[in-house]
Amino acid sequence: MTRSLAVLRLAHGGGTVVLVDVPAVAAGLGVPVPPALESLLATLPADERAICARWAPKRQATFAAGRHALRLALVEAGVVADVDAVGAIGRDDRGAPVLPEHLAHLRRAVSITHKDSVAGALVVVDSASVDTSVDTIAVGCDLELDPVSGRDRHSMAGLARQVLSPHELQALVDDAQQPLDDVSHRRAVLERFSLKEALYKGLDPFVRRYVGFLEVGVHIDVDGAALFTVPDAGFTATGRVLVVPTMPTVVLTTARVQRG
Ligand SMILES: CC(C)(COP(=O)(O)OP(=O)(O)OC[C@H]1O[C@@H](n2cnc3c(N)ncnc32)[C@H](O)[C@@H]1OP(=O)(O)O)[C@@H](O)C(=O)NCCC(=O)NCCS
Repeated sequence: MTRSLAVLRLAHGGGTVVLVDVPAVAAGLGVPVPPALESLLATLPADERAICARWAPKRQATFAAGRHALRLALVEAGVVADVDAVGAIGRDDRGAPVLPEHLAHLRRAVSITHKDSVAGALVVVDSASVDTSVDTIAVGCDLELDPVSGRDRHSMAGLARQVLSPHELQALVDDAQQPLDDVSHRRAVLERFSLKEALYKGLDPFVRRYVGFLEVGVHIDVDGAALFTVPDAGFTATGRVLVVPTMPTVVLTTARVQRG
C-alpha cells in the first residue's frame, strides 16, 4: 500500500488534503505490470479495478493512487474508521469520483488530483458542504509540479497566455509584493492554472459543460486565499493555495463552489 506523504488541514472550511506517492511505473512500459503497481491495484475493490482494467499501466497507477489518497483523506477527516470501510469509489460520465451510497451525503465534498509521481485528495466535511437534500456546494482540488529544471520550465510563457487573460497577467505582476523573477513568475502562473483546474472540478458537477480557462478569472490574496469570477450567474467560488512544507515543488490548490 502506498504511503502518505503529507496530510494538510485547511484553516478555513473544514477541509483535509492527503498526498500519497504514485509507485514508479516502468518508463516505456515495455515490461509487465511492475510489482509496485500490481500491489497497489490489489488494494482496490473489484469495481474500481474493473474501471481501469484496460487502461495503460501508468494511468492505472495514478487512478489507484488517487483513490487511495481519497480513502486516506476520508479516514483523516474522521468520516470512516479505516480505508477498508470506504467501499468502491465509482466514476461518473464526466470523470468525477462517485462515493458509495453510505457516503452519498459527501458526494460533492471530495475531489482527486494526480501527477505521475504524486496523488492527492480533498475531503471537506463542514456542515454547509454535507447536504443530502440540495446540492449547494461542491469542491475541487488540483496539484501541479513546478518544473524547476528541464524543458517544461520554458513552456510557462505559452501556458500563461492560454490560461490567464491579459488582465490577469498584468495583475499578477501588479499584485506581487516585489518584482517577480522567473521562478516566482512561473510559480504564480502555476498557482493560477492549478486554481482554475480545481475550480473546474467543483463547477462541472453543477454546469456539466466544458468551461474554458479564459471564461473564469482568479485573484490570489497575499495569504493564499483566492477569489474566482465564474461565467455562470448564480455561483460564487473561492479557493486556496496550500503550502506543502516538505514538498516545495508541489503546487496544491483547492476550490469551493457555492450555488446562490
Ligand atoms: C478535468 C481536468 C480539470 C482534470 O485536471 P487534470 O490536471 O488534467 O488532472 P488531475 O489529475 O488534477 O485530476 C484528475 C481527476 O479529476 C477528477 N475529475 C475528472 N473529471 C472531473 C469532473 N468533471 N468533475 C470533477 N472531478 C473530475 C477525477 O477524479 C480524476 O482522476 P481519476 O480519473 O483518476 O479519478 C482537466 O483535464 C480539464 O479538462 N481541464 C480543462 C477545463 C478547465 O480546467 N477549465 C478551467 C476553468 S473552469
